[in-house]
Formats: sequence, C-alpha cells, structure tokens
Amino acid sequence: MSTQPIEPMPRPLLRAAVRNLPGYVPGRRAATADVAALASNESHFDPLPSVRAKVLDGAERVHRYPDLSCLALRERIGTQFGVDADEVVVGPGSVGVLQQLLQAVLDPGDEVVYAWRSFEAYPILTAVAGGTAVPVPLLDNEHHDLAGMLAAIGPRTRMVLLCSPNNPTGVAFTHRQLMTFLEAVPPHVIVVLDEAYIEFVTGPDRVDAFAAYQRYPNLVVLRTFSKAYGLAGLRVGYAIGHPELAEGARRTSLPFVVSALAQEAAIASLDAGDEVATRVAETVQERMRLATRLRAAGWVIPDSQANFVWLRVSDGESHHIVETLAASGILVRAYPGDGIRITVADAATTDRLVAALPAPGFQPSATTAA
Ligand SMILES: Cc1ncc(COP(=O)(O)O)c(C=O)c1O
Repeated sequence: MSTQPIEPMPRPLLRAAVRNLPGYVPGRRAATADVAALASNESHFDPLPSVRAKVLDGAERVHRYPDLSCLALRERIGTQFGVDADEVVVGPGSVGVLQQLLQAVLDPGDEVVYAWRSFEAYPILTAVAGGTAVPVPLLDNEHHDLAGMLAAIGPRTRMVLLCSPNNPTGVAFTHRQLMTFLEAVPPHVIVVLDEAYIEFVTGPDRVDAFAAYQRYPNLVVLRTFSKAYGLAGLRVGYAIGHPELAEGARRTSLPFVVSALAQEAAIASLDAGDEVATRVAETVQERMRLATRLRAAGWVIPDSQANFVWLRVSDGESHHIVETLAASGILVRAYPGDGIRITVADAATTDRLVAALPAPGFQPSATTAA
C-alpha cells in the first residue's frame, strides 16, 4: 500500500448551488417492530397479496435489465386515466419524475415558483437542475397563497409547483381554485400539480386534475405509488402531461432506473384498485378519528386531506413533543421553524399516540430553551 500523503484537492470542489444545498432529511426509521414510524407518510399496511406475489415472482428475473421504456406500465396508467402512453412518464418515485422534468425544461437561472413550506425536495431539485427557487409563504390558514404565487410569476418563471394536498400541512385546494389559477397562468409556464396524496382527499369539490389537463396543456400531473398504493420501497411514480414534455422528461432519465419489480408491482396495484380503495378508506377514517381526538385535546389543526396531520408549533414545543413521543416509541417528523407532521396509521397507533402526546402550549423554560 502506498504511504504517499493524499494531495488536497484543488478548490472549489462543488458547484455553488450544490455546496449550499439543504440535505433531504428523511423521516426517522423504526429500529424495532414495536416502534411506530409515523415520520414518512408511508402506508402502514403490509403489501397487497397480489403485489407481493408479483414481486416474489419477479425475483427470478433480477439478472435481466427492466424494460427501459416502462411501456406496459405507461399503457396501464394511460388506460386508467384516459390518456395515451406517450403522455406518461414513469420514474424512480414521483420525486425522480420531477427531477427528470426539471432537468428537461430549466435553463440556468430559470425560476421555479412553489409554496413554502411544502415538500422539501422542491428547493433541492430546483437547485440541482440549475434553477432559481421562488418560494411563496403559505397563508396563515396553511393554504397555498395562489394569488401570491401568480404575482410571483415573472419573465424568468419556467415552472410553478403546486402541492395538493400539501405536504406537510395536509391542506388541499378545490377544483375551482385550481381552474381559476390555471386560467391566469401564462400558457408558456409549466404548472406541475403534485398529487402524491390525492387518493386520500374526501373534501368537497375535489380537484379533477385530468379534466384540468384536457383544458390546460401546460399542466403536468405528478402522482406516486409510494403512499396510497404502499410501494414506497420500490420507488415508482409517474407524471401525465403534454407528449412533448413527457418525452423530454423520459429523455433526461438515467437508463433502467425503474426496476422490473417496481413496474410489475405498480401494474398489479392498479389492477387491485378495489383493495387499495378499501385501505385508503380505512386510513381516511382513522385520519378523521385522530383529528377529532387531537382537537378534543385542545390542538388547533388544519383540515388534513392526506394520510397525515399537522401541528404548527414553535421549535421549543416541537422538540419537547418529538422527544416525549420518541421516549414512548413513536417517531414523528419535525420541521424546524414550522411544526410537526404525524402520519396516520391504525386505531391502536392513534390511541398510543394520543395517550403519549403532550398537551398543547408547552413553554420551554429558560434552561431547556438555552
Ligand atoms: C408531496 C410529495 N411529492 C412527492 C413525494 C415523493 O414521493 P415518491 O418519490 O416516493 O413518489 C412525496 C414524498 O413524501 C411527497 O410528500
């Protein structure tokens, strides 16, 4: 082995945009089975039997590359939503699809407008693709400030990212709000509607993204198999959009990035739509029960339309809650400066959570705050 000292690398090593990137913070993972992992908005159900069978069967063929074009899955998604396969992009999670799309459309310095706080990948993906982030603060009621987002669109704006229901606040906007917004957006600006949690929406005037897309070809609908479909570990999501945009986003993909297991499991999940719907209904039921219990305990929470609930708390209170819950084997997700997100699981977990959750209004003492 060489004993030569390692020469320091010449600087700067990294692009400034990458040097300044905030890291993606994953939810804490459960180390043991008795820990309730409520920090990542995963499905708490085991894989569906039909999906599990497909994955096990697919294990026989993992020495082969998958279908690069994901054609069977794109066709199946097309059938599901009444679009052509050439309007569908499949990627490694919807976050991967969004990255492909940003890389396909952004020139250096192009602006991406999004609400904040929202999904934490948006600023990261925007910076990596060379874009400039234009975050627009949420309103006090946790809704997107759609008027403010419209006002933020300027000559350099290439894309607007909408998230409904919004992660981490759970609030969804209505179809009418979406249509009013799209009508006002210049047609050359791409609007990506991230619907990672759309299956859990039960509120009135639910967004019909595909109807909106028929009217506004600058709309791209982003969806995932990670949440309601329970395939977070397989990494598969998709977007539906204008064929030219979809083709661009397919071109910026790494080759073979969606495994055959993921493609087949996604098709099997769409085929098992009734079973998925039953699970979603159970989660929604539990979300309502959890929200009722939290409000009864004095919490003021927004109306979540997703598979999680949101507590807006100070950092001091947030720290206290996270640590108290962790001591009871419950992991939740803290967002410094904003609050805490708690994923909905089953009734027993709700009961455990509500029993362990400190009452609202905790004030850190001078010593704990220091
Ligand atoms: C709003 C939103 N969009 C997209 C994603 C990405 O999901 P995936 O990449 O697993 O499809 C998430 C995951 O938490 C999310 O909350």
